[in-house]
Amino acid sequence: MKNRFLISFLLLLVSTISFSQEVVSIIPEPVNLTQSSGHFVINGKTKIVTNGDESVLSLAAMFADRVDFLTGNKLTATSKGKGKNISLQINKTRNNEIGDEGYVLEIQPSGVKVAANNPSGIFYGLQSLLQLVSLNSTTENKGQEVAVPAVSIVDYPRFAWRGLMLDVSRHFFDKEFIKKFMDQMVEYKYNVFHWHLTDDPGWRIEIMKYPKLTEVGAWRVPRTGVFYSMPAVKPGEKPTYGGYYTQEDIREIVKYAADRFITIVPEIDIPGHSRSLIAAYPQASCSGRQTTVYAGEIDGPEGNVLCAGNEANFKMLDDILGEVAALFPGEYIHIGGDEVCKDFWEQCPKCQQVMTDNGLKDEHELQSYFIKRAEKIVESKGKHLIGWDEILEGGLAPNATVMSWRGMEGGIKAASEGHEVVMTPTDFCYLDYMQGDPITSGFPAPWPTLDISKVYSFEPVPNGIDPKYILGGQGNVWTEMIQEERQVEYMTWPRAMALSEVFWSPKEKRNSENFMHRLEQNLPLLDKNKTKYARSVYDPFAKLTETSSSELQVEFGSEFPGLDIFYSFNFAFPDEYSPKYNGQPVTIPTGAVEIKAITYRDGKPIGQMLRVKIDDLKNR
Ligand code: ACM
Ligand code: ZN
Repeated sequence: MKNRFLISFLLLLVSTISFSQEVVSIIPEPVNLTQSSGHFVINGKTKIVTNGDESVLSLAAMFADRVDFLTGNKLTATSKGKGKNISLQINKTRNNEIGDEGYVLEIQPSGVKVAANNPSGIFYGLQSLLQLVSLNSTTENKGQEVAVPAVSIVDYPRFAWRGLMLDVSRHFFDKEFIKKFMDQMVEYKYNVFHWHLTDDPGWRIEIMKYPKLTEVGAWRVPRTGVFYSMPAVKPGEKPTYGGYYTQEDIREIVKYAADRFITIVPEIDIPGHSRSLIAAYPQASCSGRQTTVYAGEIDGPEGNVLCAGNEANFKMLDDILGEVAALFPGEYIHIGGDEVCKDFWEQCPKCQQVMTDNGLKDEHELQSYFIKRAEKIVESKGKHLIGWDEILEGGLAPNATVMSWRGMEGGIKAASEGHEVVMTPTDFCYLDYMQGDPITSGFPAPWPTLDISKVYSFEPVPNGIDPKYILGGQGNVWTEMIQEERQVEYMTWPRAMALSEVFWSPKEKRNSENFMHRLEQNLPLLDKNKTKYARSVYDPFAKLTETSSSELQVEFGSEFPGLDIFYSFNFAFPDEYSPKYNGQPVTIPTGAVEIKAITYRDGKPIGQMLRVKIDDLKNR
């Protein structure tokens, strides 16, 4: 409570005193930030001073482009500027406190200095500086001076793996969008882009030795609606919907990522989730039957598992993963391994023969046999295998890293066996889950909900587990219900801001109320970038409760603190003259069938109106 008053007071101060208009608000929250008096002025004469090192010069150029975009001031780089400049320095003597990715940012009226041990640290320091530039400039004052508040920051990440995953199989998003997605990631200091390139509804990566993977596997019949409930493929219907990345596209994207210190982790999802491969090469399945690329039909992606008794499949994987390894310079190849339907293996004589020959007691062990062979292939290409937590079933491959998604349990088990883990449990990290009230979100039931407050409360290191095994965490954007690019953004932001703070900032620095205010201050940056985002933190929610005498009551709330909530039970559209919620449960009038509620701030509506049947609330 004390905090809330302090923050409101500070916000009031910021909005009323012209000299103190500078806003200091960075996401993810830095390790250490001290504000001092005064500000540094950026204008068209400001120079960026570097030692002429190529890698730092290219960062200076990227920074100058962003400053131009945000403020209309064109900064130039020089190697020996004097006076009020922005200086970028790689430390001559290593600063051990900030590690490989950390930075020190000093903003004084006399100049700005960004220092780091490596170019990546300079890059992250510049991201913090850019947030301050954006927060303290408006699109209306293009080309005018921007006053950036004087601060002193020492900052470095908590985790080495700060990831976002994008599923480009359910729906295909082109290479320009992938670049924009990565532009957004780095603003919040993400450094891993997990690219879910193959799945039942589409194979998205060109493989030279198997051209049908994209000629056939990248295309499905067009459907709009609820995934897993789409109308069946009609006889003779043409697969016209889809797309893929050529190897040339991928090289371009890999370079774009590397310039921004993003490692791409490509995922080839096997042995399940392989219907697009099987549509192209039917002999890869146990039945060998011809099938179609999955289009979200109601009967499910039947027959989407690779046969574990077909040696040609391992030759094919060797070829595919060889091409993948040559394209992606990162350490990891993700081989999926999730949700393998074992029924096909149970009924397949070839799979059963492999089990007999290798003394495997059940299909879980057959899965383990498959993944262990995949690991040998991955390692033969000089890479390291990572897979979803199902790869634990039947015994983990010797050097595998586990991505824990069905809760934290898989990660805990893997870490306790000495394996490295990336935590991405559905309950905190699945950004395809809807946000806000199910009714205003408009998703079909029973699609789950994950609000930003819950995301923000995520703790990647389980009690009793040595943190050295937890590489970090990741937000996952599956796209069954996301058909267009701007909806990818809407589902990602601002929840990925909350996750960025979980992955970067010290645990003890997390403060949800303070985060909400910084979040709000950062939203104009998303507007300037033309990035779509959800505003559900401003929406009202309603919860039914019952008194000891069985009287039905409703409590209202919003994720953003301090909003006014007005409501009605009588079909009226509530406004600021309607009954105002005072924080105490409200008794529902006898006979009422519907609740409406709306949030206001400073006399203006700010969220979407909630309109919900009382019976629907009872059933939640
Ligand atoms: C997953 O969500 N199937 C990894
Ligand atoms: Zn088989």
